[in-house]
Amino acid sequence: MRIAMIGTGYVGLVSGACFSEFGTNVVCVDKDATKIENLKRGQMPIFEPGLSDLVANNVRAGRLSFSGDLKPAVAGAGAVFIAVGTPSRRGDGHADLSYVFAAAEEIAHALSGYTVIVTKSTVPVGTGRQVADVIAKARPDLMLGRDFDVVSNPEFLREGSAISDFMRPDRVVIGTMSNADRARAVMRELYRPLYLSETPVLFTKIETSELIKYAANCFLATKITFINEIADLCEAVGADVQEVSNGIGLDGRIGKKFLHAGPGYGGSCFPKDCMALIRTARETGTPITIVETVSAINDARKLKMADRVESAMGGSLTCKRLAVLGLTFKPNTDDMRDSPSLAIVPALVSKGAVVRVYDPEGMDEARKVIGDVEWASDTYDALDGADGVVFITEWNEFRSLDWARVAKLMRGRVVVDLRNIYAPDRVADAGFTYHSLGRASVSPQ
Ligand SMILES: NC(=O)c1ccc[n+]([C@@H]2O[C@H](COP(=O)([O-])OP(=O)(O)OC[C@H]3O[C@@H](n4cnc5c(N)ncnc54)[C@H](O)[C@@H]3O)[C@@H](O)[C@H]2O)c1
Repeated sequence: MRIAMIGTGYVGLVSGACFSEFGTNVVCVDKDATKIENLKRGQMPIFEPGLSDLVANNVRAGRLSFSGDLKPAVAGAGAVFIAVGTPSRRGDGHADLSYVFAAAEEIAHALSGYTVIVTKSTVPVGTGRQVADVIAKARPDLMLGRDFDVVSNPEFLREGSAISDFMRPDRVVIGTMSNADRARAVMRELYRPLYLSETPVLFTKIETSELIKYAANCFLATKITFINEIADLCEAVGADVQEVSNGIGLDGRIGKKFLHAGPGYGGSCFPKDCMALIRTARETGTPITIVETVSAINDARKLKMADRVESAMGGSLTCKRLAVLGLTFKPNTDDMRDSPSLAIVPALVSKGAVVRVYDPEGMDEARKVIGDVEWASDTYDALDGADGVVFITEWNEFRSLDWARVAKLMRGRVVVDLRNIYAPDRVADAGFTYHSLGRASVSPQ
């Protein structure tokens, strides 16, 4: 079977490359001509571990190609995946579906023969049926022979481990409308390699599938926010949040993951998906107030992080030199969308700090969205002459700094670790005052 992937971003490119690795012929389409030209030359538009090799191998095998032209890619394809962005709509927080509907309309005009149109983008409940309406309106002729089905197949991959998440997912969710045996058979065929590895494949109603994605992301955002508030309480009562996390996470009903205190969740999914679920729930008269609270707490938390840095630096940041390590919303990606650094760094600058930043992969993206800072060439360059250092993203290379070298480079001795990547005593032993989240601050003896 040949499939078309419309939208060659984080999800489209990884999914397209992985499907081709499964043995399917895939054409990845994007309206961004530069992205397609670069991909044809073997240049990846994003940083994702292992992606470059995966793409190169499948291009070489003749199973994966890139095109700016949607029509030939869609015509005759067995399935067409919509993997375009669904950002927050300005003003009301609803998912902006304009890219999805524009793609659906374009796809409709290119369809020939029975095709399954799959929404892989994260879309609110009801969107699949709206996509079907868009296609039916554009191509009434297709309705006669029921020449298409619309299916929801949300993506759960995480940036930074996207390939293994796609190849070895916890589950695959496929939502269909009624009488969709043909569509289910196509989807089963595409995911056949995962059946062999006994991955649970859930077939649901289309509305259920659409909601599963939002419920999953909002639950995870809630879990993060819960431990963040517990971290604040730990500080007030002298408890240690790492130990509390461990103590509750070992309970199989709770689980260890997503229980790390931090500066607030960010990224291209959790903030916007929480907002969209809040909108959907309100519009249907069934508000989900827990997610509304989570979203508000998280927004406020990011800003509070700058106050923490200020107090760690003795109550004023005026003319203080700060090294900021890590800008992306998490390690192993170059994605800056809704990163906590976008709230924290400008707040530090507005409090009077001179901020020198470094991120292993996010510098190019960061330059587009962060101003009024100095750009360091590496970790130690960022630390040179600093009065304090702030860790915002837990990149591995920040986890094992040469503290003797850091001490020689830095002017001051303050460390603010917003990811709890160090054991407090280790940093204090190197002569620094160490502040983290949900744990007591420690000064050198
Ligand atoms: N990024 C993630 O980790 C992740 C994980 C799971 C789900 N999702 C969801 O997947 C969807 C895509 O997210 P992303 O991060 O890959 O977005 P992205 O912004 O990285 O990529 C979207 C791509 O679609 C292209 N595009 C838009 N309209 C098009 C059209 N009509 N024809 C061809 N190309 C078009 C854009 O040029 C862009 O390259 C979103 O709904 C997102 O919520 C993302």
